[in-house]
Amino acid sequence: MKVLVTGGTGYIGSHTIVELINHGYEVVAVDDFSNSKPIVLDKLKEITGQKINFYELDVCDKEKLRRVFKENKIDAVIHFAGYKAVGESVEKPLMYYRNNLDSTITLLEVMDEFEVRKIVFSSSATVYGDPEELPIKETAKLSTTNPYGSTKLFIEGILKDVYISNNNYSIAILRYFNPVGAHPSGLLGEDPNGIPNNLMPYIVKVANKELPHLNIFGNDYDTPDGTGVRDYIHVIDLALGHISALEYIDKHTGIDYYNLGTGQGYSVLEMVSAFSEVNKVAVPYEIAPRREGDIAMCYADTTKAKQVLNWEATHSLQEMVESAYNFVVKNQK
Ligand code: UD1
Repeated sequence: MKVLVTGGTGYIGSHTIVELINHGYEVVAVDDFSNSKPIVLDKLKEITGQKINFYELDVCDKEKLRRVFKENKIDAVIHFAGYKAVGESVEKPLMYYRNNLDSTITLLEVMDEFEVRKIVFSSSATVYGDPEELPIKETAKLSTTNPYGSTKLFIEGILKDVYISNNNYSIAILRYFNPVGAHPSGLLGEDPNGIPNNLMPYIVKVANKELPHLNIFGNDYDTPDGTGVRDYIHVIDLALGHISALEYIDKHTGIDYYNLGTGQGYSVLEMVSAFSEVNKVAVPYEIAPRREGDIAMCYADTTKAKQVLNWEATHSLQEMVESAYNFVVKNQK
C-alpha cells in the first residue's frame, strides 16, 4: 500500500513515516519546509535505511500536487500539513484559514480526481474547547477558542460533507492530545523555531540552559496541585495510532473520530519533576499568571480507539521525558 504523507518532515509526520516503513508501507512524502528542515530526510534515511520518495511542495499548489499523484499510485493519504501555533493564529487568522483550509481542499480535490478515497486527518483535542466532562469522549460537545482550533473543526466538517457526498470514502479523524517525546535514536524530535509555546519543548530548553526558567502559567486551577493537567502522549504511540487507523480504513468505508491520548493526566508540576528526576537535570521555574485561553484539565477517554482501532498507548512518562531530552542533547547547535 502506497501512502502519501503531507507534512512529512514535521514532528509527527516524520515519526509516522518511520512507523509506516517499519510496517511495510510504501511512503511518498511532501512538505514545503515552512516549519521543518530538509535534514529530516537524511535522518529518516539513517533510521529506516531507505531514501524517502519526497517532493518539496506546498499542498496548496494544485499542479505540483497533481504531479505527485500522476507519478505515484497513491492508495491512501495521511494529512499532517498545516500551521499549528495557537498564538500566531490569533494574530494572523486569515493566514491560518487560507493555509489550513486551502491545502486541505486542494488535497481533497486532487484525491477526488485520482479517485483516492482513504484519508487519515490530524485533528486535535483543541476541538473540545473547555470540556464539560472528563475524561473526554469523542461525542463531547465541540467548540474552539482560537483560529487554529477553528481550522481543525472546519476541516472535520469538510471531511464529513465529502463523505456524505460519496459514501465510498474511508476517513479517520484523529484528535491528538499533547504529543511529546522523540525517537530513541535522538535523530528525530520536536524542533520548534524561536521560543517554544508548548510545555515540553520549553522545559527542554530550560534544562539545556537556553532559557533561564520555565514560567508555570497559573497554580490556582481547580486541579490536585493547582497547575494545568494534560494528557501527554509519546509521539511514537501517536505515530502507531496512524498505522492502526490506516489498517482500519483500508477495510471499512465511513467517517469516524478517535481520541489519541493515554487517558492519564499529568500536571505541569508533575511533568517538571518527572523531567528533572529522570534526566537528572535542574528545571528552574517560576509561577506566572494564567495564560489566556488555557483550561484546567484535558485528558482523553481512549475506549473507542482501543475497541475500534485496536490501538493503545504503551510508552511511559519516563520514556517521554527521557527521549525529549536525549533529542536536544544529541542535537546541540
Ligand atoms: C496547546 C494548544 C492546543 C494545541 C496543543 C498542541 C493552547 C492554548 N493550546 O495545548 O490548541 O492543540 O498545544 O500540542 O496553546 N504551560 C506552562 N508554561 C509554558 C507552557 C505551557 O505552564 O511555558 C502549561 C499550560 O498552561 C498547560 C500545559 O503546560 O497547562 C500544557 O501546555 P501546552 O504544551 O502549551 O499545551 P496545551 O495548552 O494543552
